[in-house]
Order: sequence, then C-alpha cells, then structure tokens
Amino acid sequence: MTAGIASVGSYIPARRVSNNELAQTMDTTDEWIRSHTGIGNRHIASDEETCSYMATEAARKALSMAGITKDEIDHIIVATITPDYRDFPATANLVQRNLDIDHVGSFDVKAACTGFAYGLEIGRGLILSNTARYVLVIGAEKLSAITNWKDRSTAVLFGDGAGAVVLEPRESEKGIVDSLLCSDGSGYDALYMSVGGSATPFKLEGVSEEDLCLTMDGQRVYNFAVNVNVKIVMDLMKRNGLTPQDIDYIVPHQANYRIISAASKRAKIPLKKYYLNIEEFANTSSASIPLALAEMDSKGLLKRGMKILTVGFGGGLTYGGNYIVW
Ligand code: ACO
Repeated sequence: MTAGIASVGSYIPARRVSNNELAQTMDTTDEWIRSHTGIGNRHIASDEETCSYMATEAARKALSMAGITKDEIDHIIVATITPDYRDFPATANLVQRNLDIDHVGSFDVKAACTGFAYGLEIGRGLILSNTARYVLVIGAEKLSAITNWKDRSTAVLFGDGAGAVVLEPRESEKGIVDSLLCSDGSGYDALYMSVGGSATPFKLEGVSEEDLCLTMDGQRVYNFAVNVNVKIVMDLMKRNGLTPQDIDYIVPHQANYRIISAASKRAKIPLKKYYLNIEEFANTSSASIPLALAEMDSKGLLKRGMKILTVGFGGGLTYGGNYIVW
C-alpha cells in the first residue's frame, strides 16, 4: 500500500504585477529581472486574500477534483512561512474552520520553500500508519506581506498563491514512493526574518518596518540552491534505481531560472524535463511546487504511471524532494 495524489487545485490572486510595473516604483528593469531570475510577473494578494483564504480556495478545488466530500478528510497540513498569525493559531486551523470539517487534525509545517515536500511525506506517513485515509496537503504563501519593498534585490523575486493536493491510500505501487527531507541550520541567517520571534521579540522602539521583513544573502542562497538541487535529484534517482531517461518530469521549487538551469547542466538532465512557470508566478516559496503541479494537471501533462521528482530548497536552510509515480 502507498499514498498517492488524487487531485490538485490552486488559487492565484487576480492582481498581476509585471516587472515594468515594479520598475515604476523601484530602481530596476524588466531586462535585469528577466536575465537574472527568469521572472516576468508575479501575482500579489489583496488584503482580503489572506494566506488561509488562498489555502482554503486551493483546497476546495482539489476536493472537487478528487470527487470526495470535505467530511472524508482526516487531516489538513499547510506548509507556509507566511501564516495569517505569526505564532498561532496555525493557518491549517483556519482552513479547517473555513471548510467547516469536524474531527480533523490540522497543523502547519514550517520548512520554507521545502515545506510542500515535507508536507507530502508527513501526509504519506499519516496514511500509511492508518491515522488518516484522506489528507489535504497545501502550500500557501503571502510573501508580499513580508517583502521589503524598498530592497530591490529581494522585492522583485516573490509572489503570492496557493496549491493543494488530496492524498489518498492506494493498493498499487503508484504514489509517493520515496522522499528525502534535509536541513542545514548553520545557514539559518542566509535567508530569514531577524525580528519578531522569541530570540528577538518585537518591540516598537528601535525596530523599523524593514526589520520585520525577509532578508536574504542572495549569492549564498544561490550556491546552496544549485548544490542541493543536484544532490536531491541524484540521491532520489540512486535510491530508487532510476536513470535520467526514466524521469518524465522534475518539478523544482521555482526560485530562479538560473538556479534550475545550472542544476540541470550539473546533473546532466535536459532542462526540458524541468517544469518551469517562474516567468508568470515568481518565487511563491512552499506554494511553488503544488502550483506547478496544478498547472501541469490542467494542461493534461500528468499521466498515470509517470515518474516525477519534486525538489525544494530554501530558508532554514532546508532542502528535500519526493519521488512520485503519478
Ligand atoms: N534590479 C537591478 N539591479 C539589481 C537588482 C534589481 N532588482 N537587484 C540587485 N541588483 C544589482 C545589485 O545591486 C548589484 O549591483 P552592483 O554590482 O552595482 O553592486 C548587481 O545587481 C548584482 O547583484 P547580485 O546580488 O550579485 O546579483 P546576482 O546575479 O547574484 O542575482 C539573485 C541576485 C537573483 C537574488 C540571486 O543571487 C539568487 O537568485 N539567489 C538565490 C535566491 C533564492 O533562490 N532564494 C530561494 C529561497 S526563497 C525562500 O526560501 C523564501
């Protein structure tokens, strides 16, 4: 028995912000952003489009695609670093309220851009241990809320959105076959929010608005990202006796086109096997992999039996991936 992805859904805010629009308010250009990242647009949530709202809407779509009722769900996992409330309640608790499902477990996973890969493996574990039959795994982010709009080196990179899957038990071998979940906390300050946790509690005095936003050492994260992208893909292939020819798609966290292209060269896997939609959505952290899966599904690209690798990397530092037979 294994756990497989029964359906995928997504929610994307309607407001689409192009590079040229950003260039009207900050010292940047469409040419710089495209050539350094591959990003052309991002979608930015309104005040009403909270993280839990987007997560709930993505979940509703996944539920209707799966053809099961909300009451059949036993567990809700939300991967996010931009929860509605900083510490608690978990955004998953709010999704449970929005969906009005009784007697269901719900919690958040905080593993930054690797959060969805972690969530899938945790959901699989809940099913295999008979704790749950159907699990909603959601990646949802409102990164615009923690973006420093005065810092052009990070402001151009991020977008908002949510993607959700319904996990179901399967008698066959098709499903989530294997996962690798890794971390390197020594790099925690390469990409983080320095103020507001218990180490540096928020106080009005001496704290600026920028202190409450994400900060990133781009070059450090870039080097880490290329290395772990290659490592996860190679390790998942080795552990499962796969060659690059066996893989139908690699669905990477969409952080930067250059990271993915460098990883593809180093892993000697053609770039056309990596699914890319960063041009339209920018970096949506834990939402980026399920958003890509939802787009692939709507284009009819995902066929039963296809061999797919996901690969995530981000704040923490965290990295990991899943091997899925669709
Ligand atoms: N527009 C124009 N110029 C810019 C911009 C911009 N938006 N941003 C930076 N620059 C300038 C810099 O000021 C610098 O100018 P200088 O040479 O005069 O000092 C120049 O461009 C080069 O800057 P670098 O930072 O060296 O640019 P680089 O080529 O490294 O690209 C980038 C920066 C895109 C951030 C890259 O380092 C990167 O992608 N890093 C990884 C980010 C990532 O993957 N994050 C993933 C995790 S996200 C998460 O977990 C939430």
